[in-house]
Formats: sequence, C-alpha cells, structure tokens
Amino acid sequence: MAKTAFQLPKGTRDILPEEQPYWAHLNAVIREITDVYQYARLDVPVFEETALFQRGVGEATDIVEKEMYTFTDKGQNSITLRPEFTAGVIRSYIQNGMSSLPTPVKVWSTGPVFRYERPQSGRFRQFHQFNAEAIGDKDPVLDFEIMDMAFRLYQRLGFQKLSFQLNSIGCPECRPVYLGRLVDYYRGHTAQLCEDCKKRLDKNPLRLLDCKQDMCQPVIAGAPPIVQHLCDECNRHFKALCLYLDSLNRPYTLNHRLVRGLDYYTKTVFEVWAEGIGSQNAVCGGGRYDGLIELLGGQPTPSVGFAAGLERIVMMMQQQQIPVPGLPGPVIYFACQHQEAQKQALIYLSGLRDSGIAGLVGLGGRSFKAQFREANRRQARYVVTLGDTELGSSSVLIKHMETGDQETIQGDQLIRYITEHGR
Ligand code: HAM
Repeated sequence: MAKTAFQLPKGTRDILPEEQPYWAHLNAVIREITDVYQYARLDVPVFEETALFQRGVGEATDIVEKEMYTFTDKGQNSITLRPEFTAGVIRSYIQNGMSSLPTPVKVWSTGPVFRYERPQSGRFRQFHQFNAEAIGDKDPVLDFEIMDMAFRLYQRLGFQKLSFQLNSIGCPECRPVYLGRLVDYYRGHTAQLCEDCKKRLDKNPLRLLDCKQDMCQPVIAGAPPIVQHLCDECNRHFKALCLYLDSLNRPYTLNHRLVRGLDYYTKTVFEVWAEGIGSQNAVCGGGRYDGLIELLGGQPTPSVGFAAGLERIVMMMQQQQIPVPGLPGPVIYFACQHQEAQKQALIYLSGLRDSGIAGLVGLGGRSFKAQFREANRRQARYVVTLGDTELGSSSVLIKHMETGDQETIQGDQLIRYITEHGR
C-alpha cells in the first residue's frame, strides 16, 4: 500500500472493487437462506444509547469494559457505536410492540459493528455481521433452526472443515449452583492462575473456562463440566437439541469450555470454528438468551440467535478458492474514430442500456489500436468500430472478440444481434 497523507484508521479496511464479488455472493446467499428459513430483515441504527449495551451485553464483559466506541454527542447524550446487533434488535422489538406479532418473531440484520480490539489477522475494529434472532419461544426446535441456518450458510458457500462447538450454560436456577462449585474448585488452585483469572474469580467466574493463558489450562481441564450440573429443564432442553442435531446428521463437538463473551446467554451456546484464518477462528457464534428481553424492559420472552463475521467468511472463501460470480465485463465496446462517431456511439449505447445491455465508449481521441487494447483489458465481448464509412451508411462493424468473427450490420440491428449471439 502506498504511503499517503491519510491512512486507514487501525483495525479498519477498504473493501476494494476486486473483493466485491465475494461480498455480493455472500450477501446473495444470506438473502436466499433467510428467505428459506422465513426471517424478515430488520435494520437498526449503527449507534444506540450507551446504557443499552451496558445492560444488554453486560458490565463485566470485555466488550463493555474495554471495547466500546463511546462518545458524548452535542446534546450531552452518551452514545455507543453498536458492538453487536442483539441488544439493538431487542430494543427495537420492545419499542415497536413486536410482541403482539405471531411468535416467534424471526428477524435478520446485517451491517458494520465496532469493537476497539487489538487488530490482527481476522480481527478488526470495524467488521460486518450477519445476525439472526428468533424471538418469543423456548422450544429447542428454534435452537436447532438457528444452528441449522448457520450449517446451511456454510454448506451453501461450499465450506468444509468447519467445526460446530456446543455447550449449555444453564439458567438462573442451575447456573448459580454450578458457579458455586466452580469457584470452590478454583479457590483450591489460585496459585496456578493468571492475573485476569484471579479477577474473574470474583467478577465473572464463568469466563474462567475460556481463558487462553497456558498456565490456566491444567486448571480448566480439571474443572467440573457445567452440563453435568444442569437443572431438569435445561437438561431436557439440551438433550432435545442434541437429538435434533443427531437426527439430521449435523456434526458438532460438545465443548464444556465454551461460555461465550456476552452475558445474556442461557442454556444453549454454540460457535463455528474454521481452520486457516489465524488465531481468530470463530466464524460465528450464538445461543439462547431467555432473560434479555425482560432485562431490557420487556415481558419475559425466551429467544435464540446467532451472528456470523463476514470478513472472516470472505477470508475463508478466498483461502479455499471458493468460486464466485465475477464482475461482468462490458458486453460491448465502441471504438470511435472521432467525436462524431462518439456521438453516434452514445445514441446506440443509450438504446442498449435501455435493454439492460452493458457497454462503454472509447474515450479521448485514441487510435483504434489503443481502443481495441482497452476493450480487451476490460473483457468486452464485442467491439463495434465506428468510423466515417460506418457513419455514412448507418452501419456498424461488429467483432466478436472471442471467435474473431466480424460482420457489418445496420446500427438499428445491434440489440437483436447481441440478443441472438449472447451477452
Ligand atoms: P460474537 O461471538 O461476539 O457474538 O460475534 C459473532 C461473530 O462476529 C464472531 O463469531 C466473529 O466471526 C465475528 N467477530 C467478532 N469480533 C470480531 C472482530 N473484532 N473482527 C472480525 N470479526 C469479528 C455476537 O455478536 C452475538 N450478538 C451473536 C448473537 C446473536 N447471539 C445471539 N444472537
């Protein structure tokens, strides 16, 4: 990249034209899949009042403690750029009275989200998510459906080597009992813990289980698994979800260390991991959050959802050389002898464009040779030569660039010719 006066802010990136076909394909697949699963699109603002995320995501999470882009606006309101979609979607659900709609209310969103993280491969400060939520029912069928939508997204994109990680982190009934046991166990191992985990022990003990520090690994390995301490309801829910996944041959790994980095989860949590995109290998994550809507001021409403990181998916598509439809080249290029020919080309091109046929006009008094070179570079399928001879007889000389065939036809036959010979 050239050194210029202004540089991208750290952790952000330009999505250049050559990368756009990947994004276009990915967005088309997302649209197709949300239709098939009957999710309706919901767009929420890029910023919300700060308290929504503090309450929704949780005060003791890394996102709220360290990663939010928060500022005071000119009206002295504390505003935060969304670090995720769920809190904003639920704010919208409550504010727009969506609880009166038939349940579950199934919505999806996409767009940029912002986290002040340490940038590295696959980890950005502005990135994009595809987010889906099924709001209003506690049936594990919906947990299955949400996971299945993720399965299908990756399958439809042509990915292999994906690993679905699954856990249940219980509910307000059983989790405190489990956390008591976990803390008791950890108190016997404080000398072997990193400094962060010593703090987590008091503040957010569940997060002890996903510490990445080497020194904490033996302690984690000996920790009691939460799935063995679930209450009857959480246990039934988890068993039913596993039954559905097994019945449809959806592969997954039970991972008792998976606890997720947001505080709203209850029961099901899951992630999808991919190889080869660096240490940041989670391409999607989600789970059930039965207490969030009440916490944000709505009626108790069980819900489940997930979000996928689009940059990481695009990185995988590029790495695994997943074919995507390319940017179409111009179908027809007009090589013009002079301004009079350019004027006639614009008239022809206007008719072609009305018929949805793409094309370009040669610019700036260049030689025919230079214009043919340009047409080749731009992968034009046909080149039309327009000079004095053609203008005099209202004809055009059209050349099929792939076969080299060329013929003279009347100008008003151009659309028919291209329709017959293919774009
Ligand atoms: P999350 O796990 O924080 O979940 O983020 C979801 C996905 O966003 C991750 O799996 C990853 O692919 C991507 N992602 C996260 N941080 C970054 C980053 N710094 N750079 C690039 N990609 C990143 C949520 O956000 C929840 N709201 C998901 C959810 C919806 N749960 C229930 N409903």
